[in-house]
Amino acid sequence: MTATRIDGKAFAEKVREEVAVGVKALKASHGVTPGLAVVLVGEDPASQVYVRNKVRQTEACGMQSFHHVLDTTTSRDSLLSIIESLNADPEVHGILVQLPLPDHLDSRDVIEAIDPAKDVDGFHTSNVGELWTGGEPFIPCTPIGCLRLLKSVEPNIAGKNAVVIGRSNIVGRPMAALLLNESATVTIAHSKTKDLPAVCRQADILVAAVGRPQMVKADWIKPGAVVLDVGINRIETEDGKGKLVGDVDFDDASTVASAITPVPGGPGPMTIACLLANTLEAAKRSVS
Ligand code: GUN
Repeated sequence: MTATRIDGKAFAEKVREEVAVGVKALKASHGVTPGLAVVLVGEDPASQVYVRNKVRQTEACGMQSFHHVLDTTTSRDSLLSIIESLNADPEVHGILVQLPLPDHLDSRDVIEAIDPAKDVDGFHTSNVGELWTGGEPFIPCTPIGCLRLLKSVEPNIAGKNAVVIGRSNIVGRPMAALLLNESATVTIAHSKTKDLPAVCRQADILVAAVGRPQMVKADWIKPGAVVLDVGINRIETEDGKGKLVGDVDFDDASTVASAITPVPGGPGPMTIACLLANTLEAAKRSVS
């Protein structure tokens, strides 16, 4: 079997086009331009790249972008007072504090300071609680992007066995909640899981979000399974240039899976597109 390659880049472009149309419509109907504030603390190079892309794509779809870059040594009080002023700013509909934060700042503490109605990351406990209890939360961007990619190849999720490798608050846990809400039978596997390959082989839907380059091999995959690879890992290459790979060995897994996301070009581009969609939704809710 050669798996269908799920094109996250093309899908994300479609989502961004839909968002741009929605932004225009909201401006025309209510005179409101959706605004996203992105806060970066410190100089983590990967975070700098992510934040630059978020700002660029926010502006490209017609939204306002508010970009706050703060020194690594920024105190808890100064960060919370910036969040407080963004909470109160009517031009800001979405607030994102890029994670990870420097060690002296507690990310839970910081996320809880964000107004849940502006929490377009879906990380505030109020949104997390709603996700698990069937409300209408903002849903974390990477998992909702994965779900949309999954539905493009597998509309019937109910009753399927889904295995999520990784239990992070950003991907693994919300991904499990989304799959459960779609009536899948969900297993969350993690570093202490016994015989991980055997657990993965039970999966009709396999989501890998652990940050271990090319860990998932063909013999971990049930024939015909759909594989979503959230990992983004840089590995060394002989020419010294390095390259990005996922948590799944793409070429090997493609011989067994029915459909699979590539890295780069899988869930990655969908994350920012879904962030823009959440920001538009927050702006719409603010006028309704
Ligand atoms: N760091 C890695 N992914 C994310 C994300 O989706 N949101 C935020 N705020 N930080 C991240």
